[in-house]
Parts: sequence; structure tokens; C-alpha cells
Amino acid sequence: MQHQTEQTNAALMARRRAAIPRGVGQSHEVFIARGVNAEVWDVEGKRYIDFAGGIAVLNTGHCRPEIMQAVKEQIDLYTHTCFQVLAYEPYVELAERINALAPGNFAKKTMFLTTGAEAVENAIKIARSYTKRSAVIAFTSGYHGRTLLTLGLTGKVAPYKTGFGPFPAEIFHAQFPNAAQGISSDDAIASVESILKNDVEASRVAAIIVEPVQGEGGFNVAPFDFLQRLRALCDQHGILMIADEIQTGAGRTGTWFAMEQSGVAPDMIHGQIDGGRLPAVRRGGPR
Ligand SMILES: Cc1ncc(COP(=O)(O)O)c(C=O)c1O
Repeated sequence: MQHQTEQTNAALMARRRAAIPRGVGQSHEVFIARGVNAEVWDVEGKRYIDFAGGIAVLNTGHCRPEIMQAVKEQIDLYTHTCFQVLAYEPYVELAERINALAPGNFAKKTMFLTTGAEAVENAIKIARSYTKRSAVIAFTSGYHGRTLLTLGLTGKVAPYKTGFGPFPAEIFHAQFPNAAQGISSDDAIASVESILKNDVEASRVAAIIVEPVQGEGGFNVAPFDFLQRLRALCDQHGILMIADEIQTGAGRTGTWFAMEQSGVAPDMIHGQIDGGRLPAVRRGGPR
């Protein structure tokens, strides 16, 4: 109770610095007291427009009434069961709905995970187990998370990887197309082919993981022909194509998944829904 009287951002920052490690960064020295739609109010009563949305995860804004109502109804029924121990129907229903939305005219399955990094890690595990191959190709400037495997996949050193190596082996980085840097689709595909020629044989590559729009990497849009040619290259060599849509999924580019716009159906895809991160959808085939 003592903490709830006369709170200021400065006082809370002082407590935060004493109690929480510096590794948990903070962009603004502001503490939120409440939020409605796109607006938030800090503990001193100052109003802001929330352009960050929890870093692009809050599609429906703060406290949308239908969502609040559904959450309240749910917590009145039961708390945590662990789906693997005691299942519940909403998990199945949501998986069915996402399967219907995900690109590809084939049977699909969805699992729900807590973070994007966890979704990416599981996609790599599934790809390795299914193909019995170990290598993975990712792209320069790509971002896939903060765990050691996902940092290994991330194609940008500062600020993500500095000081945290060594990273898991058998990860190779090809060039991502970037018009501003003069890297065309041809260059990017040639870069993948160069890895298959000079670093690892195609028959040992389990997966190629790609963001249809690089987010952390600078909002680089993958040309559709690049994604289509990557799909063809994967099919040619029995490599699984993984689309990391943690930042682009759930309608953030206008379609439910950004991959839909290229006409390419990956073998596995991750997205992220309001607040909680995301489901990994995969073809019905593996496992
Ligand atoms: C493309 C992409 N992949 C993976 C991640 C990791 O997600 P999380 O922070 O939930 O682990 C992010 C996070 O921003 C992301 O943008």
C-alpha cells in the first residue's frame, strides 16, 4: 500500500534501478497507470499516445472491452492446467481458426507458445527432427530472438549478439535483398547458392528461415520473386521453409500473414497475437 501513494516516474525509476538488472532495457522513463485504446496515462496523470503498442504486439489497443470481457469470463472458470495435462476446448478452437487462416492449401497444425524465440527454437527442432539434417540458413539483418539459438540465427551483431557468443553451430547467413544497399533478389538467391556450394551441402540443410518483412533489421520488404525462388530452392533440395512472422503476422501488413501476399506457403510459420506471442503453424506432414 505504501507504494501506491504519490507515485512519480522518478521515484519508480529509482526503485526499478535498485531492484531490476540493467539488461532489461527501458526506452522511456515513464510508468503507466492505465491505458485505453491508443492512449496511456502515466502515474503522474500525464496522457500519451502509445505509438509502441508493446513493440507492435497490441493490435487491438489497450483494454478493448470484448477482450477484457473474454479474459474475465475465462479466469472465473479455471486457472492454469497445463494443456498437456488437462486440455481445454478454446486451445483447440483457436488452433483450428489459425489453421484456416494460414497460407497453403494443405492440412495444418498449430501449437501455442509463450515467446517468439520459443516458436523459432521449436521450428528449428521440428525441422531437424523431421529432415534428420542439422544445418540452418538465415539472413543478414534478420532478427529471431534473444535465446542463444535465436541469437545465432539473428544476422546482426550490435546490439543483440555482442558479448554473448559462442552461438550454436551449423547456422549460415545469406544476404537478404535490400534495394537501398543494392542487394537484388538475384544477389540474395546467389548468396544462398554460394552457401550450398562453399559451406554446407544442400542435403545437410534442414531449414531456411526468413522474415517476409525484416522488422528489427530496418523494415526491409522481401521482394515476392525472392520468396518464390526461395520456395523453389527449398523444394528442389528437400529443405523446409520457415517464415518468421512474429513481427508481421496477425494482420500487421494487411493480410493475416504477410507471406500470403507473395503467394508462397512456407512449411512452418510463426505469428504473434495480442500481448502473448505466438503460435507456430506447420504443415500437417511433419510428426
Ligand atoms: C521477427 C522476430 N522474430 C522473433 C522475435 C522474438 O520474439 P520474442 O521477443 O517474443 O521472443 C521477434 C521479436 O521482436 C521478432 O521481431
